[in-house]
Amino acid sequence: MPCLVVYYSFSGNNRILGDHLAARLNAPAAIIEPASARTGFSIFLDLLFNRRPRVLPLQADPSAFDHILFVAPIWNRHIAHPMQTAMASLKGRVKACSFATLCGAVRPGQIEVITKDLTSAIGLAPANVWLLPLTELTKAVKGPVREEDMIERVTPEHLFHFKPQIDAIIAALGSR
Ligand SMILES: Cc1cc2nc3c(=O)[nH]c(=O)nc-3n(C[C@H](O)[C@H](O)[C@H](O)COP(=O)(O)O)c2cc1C
Repeated sequence: MPCLVVYYSFSGNNRILGDHLAARLNAPAAIIEPASARTGFSIFLDLLFNRRPRVLPLQADPSAFDHILFVAPIWNRHIAHPMQTAMASLKGRVKACSFATLCGAVRPGQIEVITKDLTSAIGLAPANVWLLPLTELTKAVKGPVREEDMIERVTPEHLFHFKPQIDAIIAALGSR
């Protein structure tokens, strides 16, 4: 099978992106579910103590796919911790992978940190890393605004503003 989309989302944005990419790629999607519900406070503790929360087993066999597209939020420049746990559990069973994220504001060195997280969790460097920042979406929808007025919750209609990035993802993975 060509491609599997594996996604994690805390507040819904990356669920919308993961579902959209799976539909465009005509690929199955598997959702990462933490074993216990995450809250703002548990995320804070994950970040503070660099914890890897337990997740439920993936409902798909990654070794049956040529390419895994991981989709998840970025927390403090890193791939969201439940996704890092899931990636580590797939080590040795992934042939090739890429990463896409609806993130906030891209911080210096963010792509490098994401690439390092993925490489150390899976044991494989990603073929591509795509960042779709909410700052760019906000600028396209509202023009220049203060940080506190940034769009935080994405709707399926908002994805239109990321057409170039999404088309690039489909062009890279759709032919596999
Ligand atoms: C605790 C926390 C830390 C974050 N740190 C970053 C960051 O370093 N860089 C970034 O681009 N976005 C950061 N964000 C923004 C999220 O990646 C962004 O809101 C994302 O769209 C949320 O995805 P979700 O709705 O799928 O959970 C952070 C969000 C939270 C809650």
